[in-house]
Amino acid sequence: MIPDKAPREDVLYAAGDLKKEAHVPSFEKYKELYIKSIDNPDEFWGDIAKDFYWKTKHTGQFLDYNFDVTKGEIFVKCMEGATTNICYNVLDRNVHEKKLGDKVAFYWEGNEPGDESTVTYRELLQQVCRLANVLKSQGVKKGDRVSIYMPMVVELVVAMLACVRIGAVHSIVFAGFSAESLCERILDSQCCLLITADGFYRGDKLINLKVIADEALHKCRDKGYLVQRCIMLRHLSKVEEAEVTPLGSQSPPAKRPCPDLQQDPQRDRVKKTRPVPQVPWNPKVDLCWHGLVCVASEECEPEWCDSEDPLFILYTSGSTGKPKGVLHTVSGYMLYVATTFKLVFDYQPSDVYWCTADIGWITGHSYITYGPLANGATSVLFEGLPTYPDVSRMWEIVDKYSVTKFYTAPTAIRLLMKYGSEPVTRCKRTSLKVLGTVGEPINPEAWQWYYTVVGEKRCPVVDTFWQTETGGHVLTPLPAATPMKPGSATFPFFGVVPAILNESGEELEGPSEGYLVFKQPWPGVMRTVYGNHQRFETTYFKKFPGYYVTGDGCRRDKDGYYWITGRIDDMLNVSGHLLSTAEVESALVEHEAVAEAAVVGRPHPVKGESLYCFVSLRDGVTYNRSLEAQLRKQVREKIGAIATPDYIQNAPGLPKTRSGKIMRRVLRKIANNERDLGDVSTLADPSVIEQLFENRSCSDV
Ligand code: PRX
Repeated sequence: MIPDKAPREDVLYAAGDLKKEAHVPSFEKYKELYIKSIDNPDEFWGDIAKDFYWKTKHTGQFLDYNFDVTKGEIFVKCMEGATTNICYNVLDRNVHEKKLGDKVAFYWEGNEPGDESTVTYRELLQQVCRLANVLKSQGVKKGDRVSIYMPMVVELVVAMLACVRIGAVHSIVFAGFSAESLCERILDSQCCLLITADGFYRGDKLINLKVIADEALHKCRDKGYLVQRCIMLRHLSKVEEAEVTPLGSQSPPAKRPCPDLQQDPQRDRVKKTRPVPQVPWNPKVDLCWHGLVCVASEECEPEWCDSEDPLFILYTSGSTGKPKGVLHTVSGYMLYVATTFKLVFDYQPSDVYWCTADIGWITGHSYITYGPLANGATSVLFEGLPTYPDVSRMWEIVDKYSVTKFYTAPTAIRLLMKYGSEPVTRCKRTSLKVLGTVGEPINPEAWQWYYTVVGEKRCPVVDTFWQTETGGHVLTPLPAATPMKPGSATFPFFGVVPAILNESGEELEGPSEGYLVFKQPWPGVMRTVYGNHQRFETTYFKKFPGYYVTGDGCRRDKDGYYWITGRIDDMLNVSGHLLSTAEVESALVEHEAVAEAAVVGRPHPVKGESLYCFVSLRDGVTYNRSLEAQLRKQVREKIGAIATPDYIQNAPGLPKTRSGKIMRRVLRKIANNERDLGDVSTLADPSVIEQLFENRSCSDV
């Protein structure tokens, strides 16, 4: 499956100096380790597990599983019998055993240049223990779910690890999601507590996070569910004193000076030059982060968890429209993200690593928090935007912290490409050694720009294919080992066995194209959809029994390289974020003017795909600009700004088969203004087509 020798033609190789120190220095070494990982997983992963702390050791085989629905329930168990705690492994062990207490864990770089702070491993451990004690004092217990809705600040990492320390399960909701989306996620996982912040700036725009969080809690209450506590961090407003009013008191929060806060290194990180949000305060549930942590102890014994105890839930779009709560568990996830981080970025102790993703997505979970911290790495944690205050920001940050390993999304690369090379070359970037991409297929043109302009052909580009569900990278180059082909995620990571199937479920050999599936689990694969194991089985295992189905199309070339061709289900990838067409459609039809909606993707030069929405209106309603604006607002409010429709088109009729199924294939062509529609003989009413072409909402193609 993997060639014995790396091809010499049509490939690029930039490892240069990396080879001398690399963990996997050659293609031959990659192949040797890969074979070991498949033939002898117990030994392969057992060696890796030796570098972690286990309160009790595992018994039996390393991985136990069933991937075949026809043989019974799907399950994956890794290191059964072992007990550990991830927080202990990524913090205590680094501070006490590896003596990394004074090493910087994060350089925090705010939205505004000049807003910055630094946190060491020792400080992070102290902050985490304090908050863990706070959570315990508020009644949070092992197994309880805690929702986190925060900006990109160090305290977001603190909140995650505090949950993990006490065995609580975090469910992070990206801070760009709406109140409705937050409410839906809180309800689905029945979270007992919410951690949020006053607000944050995205470029010039103030986001009043607490206002949105309050609205979400109201919605939960309206639906009969009470979130008992809401802990709010003051991120924008300065903390001189902290609210200490006990819960339930009707009076406005009493304040008292907290001596410990005066020493808080994070205290002055945001310059007070901009308007600060007024935060609504509900004395029945609201608690002040600072008031609680400043009196909490720095000692907190970790809760020892079983390998298969839940670690976190992270919601991802589902094709039915209802998001799926992807559940990851303790030991397998820890080993997998630690190993992929170390090998895919070829992590070395002197590295300064920067992943530009938001922690609200899986990339941030695995490759800002858990993977880097498990390796004792120093990372940049960036709150801002790549184009604010100007388009050199990313490269200025690279120079400021001498970033060596840099990980971003194709959409950011395409955005910056538009401004040419000068904003990049204005900065030195001599520290860079490895560049990574994630989130969507990268077009060869963007790949070449990244490789040539940003990395000056010195830095290998690791195009990492993976999913919220896979926990970590599953197809990826290793920077000193894998010759690159621009646009290909190349080969499987250790323990991963990909296959390409045709529509009948037959495995295709050699060069071929079809459904990308995996034949066996790896430690970091998701274990279930929270609260709905049946949905887990149906979504990923039913179509082709015996395989995990990714939902992506894939091509394998003559050299065995894998090329992801994009989603083959009703999912769209907008700026690297998956959205289900059904979710956007249901937001649209909730508007009283809309009778029916159909959403398709239309290629977009920066976002990859954009949202093109066809709406059929109720009788008597007229389509106009004001309605269009209302519909955009409706989707933003229901889902969040990432789902804002790019195009909305009035569609008095939709192309349907005689059985009433909407022909999306035809709608995609109309959105693209492509007249060659293929076979439309099954259309119930062919006359709708001409009308749809006439009504196209964009005349740019
Ligand atoms: O379609 C694939 C695309 O992103 C999907 C997973 O999205 P999500 O769960 O939100 O996780 C994104 C970050 C891991 C995949 O099914 N995708 C992700 N990485 C790549 C990619 N498509 C092509 N190449 C990639 N490197």
